[in-house]
Amino acid sequence: MAENSHEKTLAALGVTQSEQVAPLFAQLQTQATADLQAAHSADTFEKFRVNWLGRKSGVLTLVGDNWLKLATPELKRAVGQELNKFKAQLEAQMEARRAAIESGAEETVSTKDRVDLSLPGVARPIGSRHLIRQVFQEIEDIFVSIGFSVVQGPEIETPYYNFEALNIPEFHPVRDDMDTFYVEAATESGAKTAPGALLLRTHTSPVQIRTMEKQKPPVRVIVPGKVYRRDNPDATHSFMFHQIEGLAVDADITFCDFTGTIEYFVKQYFGPSVKTRFRPSYFPFTEPSVEFDVSCIFCGGSGCGANGATCGKCKGSQWIELFGAGMVDPAVYGFVNYDAKKLSGFAFGMGMDRLAMLKYGIDDIQAFFQNDARFLRQFP
Ligand code: FA5
Repeated sequence: MAENSHEKTLAALGVTQSEQVAPLFAQLQTQATADLQAAHSADTFEKFRVNWLGRKSGVLTLVGDNWLKLATPELKRAVGQELNKFKAQLEAQMEARRAAIESGAEETVSTKDRVDLSLPGVARPIGSRHLIRQVFQEIEDIFVSIGFSVVQGPEIETPYYNFEALNIPEFHPVRDDMDTFYVEAATESGAKTAPGALLLRTHTSPVQIRTMEKQKPPVRVIVPGKVYRRDNPDATHSFMFHQIEGLAVDADITFCDFTGTIEYFVKQYFGPSVKTRFRPSYFPFTEPSVEFDVSCIFCGGSGCGANGATCGKCKGSQWIELFGAGMVDPAVYGFVNYDAKKLSGFAFGMGMDRLAMLKYGIDDIQAFFQNDARFLRQFP
């Protein structure tokens, strides 16, 4: 179509014979089809509609004004017929286009949005739970299966819960082993807490006290969580590590219940062939206290490594120390208003990181905290 032919009269376009009318409309039709094909969205469709059907200056209005109204009597009939044909065809084309755009089919064929199915997909790496979290879950499942529930407590503690209520008075030598980080916080009035009034808990044992304060016996809980100590980092020590506390208190809990529970746990966690043993130990909040050992998982309890050499993990001792435990010291019941004459119970505190290291053959605790993806990927 001659550029903007609809803005000119037929005379100006040199159309004098009725045979010239149909080709003129054919050109108009070609232009309309091309414009409509370029309309891929509701917005561009609306622009097309205004451009072609707009009342004031749409192409059809101008064709009516410039071609039909000003046509000579000889041409009028042919122009009227062609205009009607053109209108009907345009309306049908527009309706089809509108339906395609509304159904979304148009979007998919637009050049801009076209999906090239031959391109490689976008790989979205899916993370997995950290090994420590996985081991927490494993241990929680074992204890939940024998009637324990899972509770939690704050990581920022008071010395009362972390020490005193666990029968560790101020200046008790045990506090030296559990030196920690003291923190200051703003109180409600905006003043700072007194020096030494808050600390990062050194073990999960304070949650024993918090649980017994809230709950009447019987109590059977485990407490997974982070703990902190001013320990220098090495292959088996970190200043932040994880523990799982266990506490069972009831009217008639005996040392046998305690050993039975622990042995059940160890065999579930490490496998049935592992042997266990107790050694006397000391914790101010348990009496008697024990250290719990398992036969070395690496040498099968033989003390010998490959080629008859001494096992590097248990150093030939055949045993590996697992955690501290004991029967709850009656003095602790005094802090939570439990009747020490009627109640008994046991408690244990496991170093989670070391349990994970033993089971999965990891020889440096620091690997858990370095976030090296090559390490983490080994435990999907
Ligand atoms: C305690 O923390 C006692 N609360 C455990 C307990 C609970 C005893 C209830 C009796 C009754 P201990 O200081 O031994 O005990 O720590 C327990 C475990 O935490 C250790 O066996 C060890 O596996 C782990 N652990 C201690 N210090 C570190 C450290 N710096 N880094 C990593 N693991 C540690």
